[in-house]
Amino acid sequence: MVTLEEVKNAFKPKLKPIEWRGDSLLLLDQSQLPFQKTWIELRDPEGVSSAIRNMQVRGAPAIGISASYGMVLSVNGSSLNEALDSMKRAKIVLDSARPTAVNLSWATSRMLNLANNAVEQGDVKNVKELRDLMEEEANQVFQEEYEAELKMGLYGLEKLNSGDAVLTQCNAGGLATGTGLGTALAPMKLAHALGMDISVFAPETRPWLQGSRLTVYELMEDGIKTTLITDTAVGLVMYKGMIQSVMVGADRILRDGHVYNKIGTFKEAVIAHEMGIPFYALAPTSTFDLKSEEKDVKIEERDPNEVRFLRGVPIAPAEVQVYNPVFDVTPPKYVTGIITENGIIYPPFEKNVRKIVQR
Ligand code: MRU
Repeated sequence: MVTLEEVKNAFKPKLKPIEWRGDSLLLLDQSQLPFQKTWIELRDPEGVSSAIRNMQVRGAPAIGISASYGMVLSVNGSSLNEALDSMKRAKIVLDSARPTAVNLSWATSRMLNLANNAVEQGDVKNVKELRDLMEEEANQVFQEEYEAELKMGLYGLEKLNSGDAVLTQCNAGGLATGTGLGTALAPMKLAHALGMDISVFAPETRPWLQGSRLTVYELMEDGIKTTLITDTAVGLVMYKGMIQSVMVGADRILRDGHVYNKIGTFKEAVIAHEMGIPFYALAPTSTFDLKSEEKDVKIEERDPNEVRFLRGVPIAPAEVQVYNPVFDVTPPKYVTGIITENGIIYPPFEKNVRKIVQR
């Protein structure tokens, strides 16, 4: 049995895509990777919101962490009341950046609730103290994410054997979480760091190519055997027995086990179910939405030109009508287990989610 201490020592993150500078937020621009490594520096919540909207930072946990720092950047004003008003406005701006990943509003609510309580109870005496408290909290959100990923990785390791190949979807690695480790990729990264023979199949993930641009890039940086496939090759790869399990991230998980993740995930889950291949979603408990029903969740639709063009090159008649949903939902019957930092949740999810996700 591998311990948390052992994996902490074995794995050292190579990527540091989010960096807090004290009065600005530095983000590795994911829209340009892997071809260019450019950094953007943000000094206000509006800037953070547009970086999230434009997917310069993306992936549910990374969005949540960036939004926490966006809230820190919003603490301004000549009185505590002014600073709280500024934070409330910032929360609206940040929450509206993207609709599906619940980590975004989870993080801004956590920051604003703490600020409200601290002011109400007299724990902070001026705007500077409030800002210091918010900075500490955002750092805590970031640190907790990494700790959660190490634990998820450990639980995920129980599901891997040396020699396994794992299919993933999109990028649920260290770029998507800001930590250099990731959620769905954590078990494979830890396994590799511990000397196990593990490989990953990464579908390209059209239209934004998170798989081919980001997942492949970060796995190769970590020295993990990686095979890039088209999204349309997923069925054949499973049919031919080329993978032993599916591990994906999540943007939102409902209390009954519905998993929202990058478009294409549902198809993978259905085929895996049919082929008898286990399908796991890996996510920190901050990704759970215990309040919403399926009908309440908005699936983001993005610019049709993301489909008409492939990184600037036209690939369809310019005037074609396009439907571009960028997430889908996998019903619980296709989910073998949900791996969190608190343990693995198995069906029936309606009953078991609440045992692990406490709020
Ligand atoms: O549109 P994106 O790239 O933000 O979508 C990301 C995903 O779907 C990830 O799988 C999910 O956020 C989990 S990231 C650890």
